[in-house]
Amino acid sequence: MRMKRQIICGFFCLVFCSLGVFVSAEEPAQGLRDGMQILGRSIGTCAGAALVQRDAAYADLLAQEFNMLTPENDMKIARLQPEEGRFTFDSADQLVAFAETHGMKVRGHTLVWHLFLPKWLSDKEWEKDELNQVMRTHILTVAGRYKGKIDAWDVLNEAVEHDGRLRESLWYKTLGPDYIDNAFRWAREADPHALLFYNDFDAEGMNAKADGVYALVKGMKERGVPLDGVGFQLHVDAENPPSIEAMRKNMQRLVALGLQIHFTEIDVRVSLPMTPERLEKQAACYAALLELCLSEPACTAFVTWGFTDRYSWVPRFFEGYGDALLFDRDKKPKPAYEAVRSILFPTQPHDGNFKD
Ligand code: XIL
Repeated sequence: MRMKRQIICGFFCLVFCSLGVFVSAEEPAQGLRDGMQILGRSIGTCAGAALVQRDAAYADLLAQEFNMLTPENDMKIARLQPEEGRFTFDSADQLVAFAETHGMKVRGHTLVWHLFLPKWLSDKEWEKDELNQVMRTHILTVAGRYKGKIDAWDVLNEAVEHDGRLRESLWYKTLGPDYIDNAFRWAREADPHALLFYNDFDAEGMNAKADGVYALVKGMKERGVPLDGVGFQLHVDAENPPSIEAMRKNMQRLVALGLQIHFTEIDVRVSLPMTPERLEKQAACYAALLELCLSEPACTAFVTWGFTDRYSWVPRFFEGYGDALLFDRDKKPKPAYEAVRSILFPTQPHDGNFKD
C-alpha cells in the first residue's frame, strides 16, 4: 500500500517537475531592463505609490522593465510638507521601499520647484530669511531622510525661462539668484553620495533656453557648487521631433563641463486619434533618443515619464494629444517599445511573452 502511494507521488512529482522546467522555459524574454543593465546604464520611469498599491500588473511591469524609478509626484513639496514643518513621507517611503525590493535605483524629484507648492508656502508674503530657512529645512529633512537611498536628486527643477533668464519664481523673487547655489550645497550636505542634478524642459537642443541653462551650470561649476548633472526632460512631439544633432551638440558642451546627462521625463506625444503612421513616428523618435543617449558615455540614465498610456499626464496637459508612452492602455508593448528593445537586442526579437 505504502509502496503504491510512493509510486503515485513519484509520478506526480515527475509531471510537476517537468512542468516547472517547461514553465521556466516560458519566462518572459529579456526586456529593456536587462538590455540596459548589460550596458551599465539605467532605464527608468516615473510612478505613483497609489498606482503601485492598487494595480498589481502595473507594479509587475514596472519592476520587470525598469531599473530606476522616479516618484511622479510623491516627493514634491506639496505632498511631503502639506503644512509648514509637518512632513508626510508615507507614499515616498513606499516607492523607495518598492525600488529597494526590486533592485531599482531612485531619482529623487524634486527638492526645489516653482510649482506643486503647498498653499502655506505659495500664499504668504515671505521675508528673505524666513523663506531661506524654509528651503533649507525642506532640503535637509527630505534629502536627509533618504540619505544613501537616492541615486540622483533633481535638486532644482525648471528655474530658467525660454529666453534664458532665471525664472521669477517665489524662490528667485524672495531670495535672489543665490538660492540656487544654496539649494545644491544643502542637498550635498544632507546626502553626500547622491548625484545632484539641475532638470529642465525645452532646453535639450540649441536654443536661448539651453544657452541659459548652460550659462547657469557653467557658473555653478566655476563657483565650486556641487552639481553633477543636467536632466533633459524631453516631453516631445512625435510629429515635430527635436533635432538630434542639436541635442548632441548641447549634450557635448555640458559633458565638457564634467557633467552627466540624464534623460529624465521622456514622453513622445502624438495628436489623437492614433494612427499606424503616428505609431511609427513615435517609435522612430524613441529609438533616436535612445541611440543618442547610448552614443554618449556620460548619458547614464534614460527615464520615461510613465510607461502605460493608461496613466499619463500628457492628455491632461497637452490638449488633443496622448498615447505618449511605450506600453498601451492595456499595458501591451507598442511599436515604440519594440524599437527601443531592438536597439538593445538587435538579433533577438521579442517572443511576445509578457507577464500579465
Ligand atoms: C507632472 C505630473 O506628471 C502630473 O501628474 C502633475 O499633475 C504635474 O506634474 N515637469 C516635471 C514633472 O518636472 O514633475 C511634471 O510632472 C511634468 C513636467
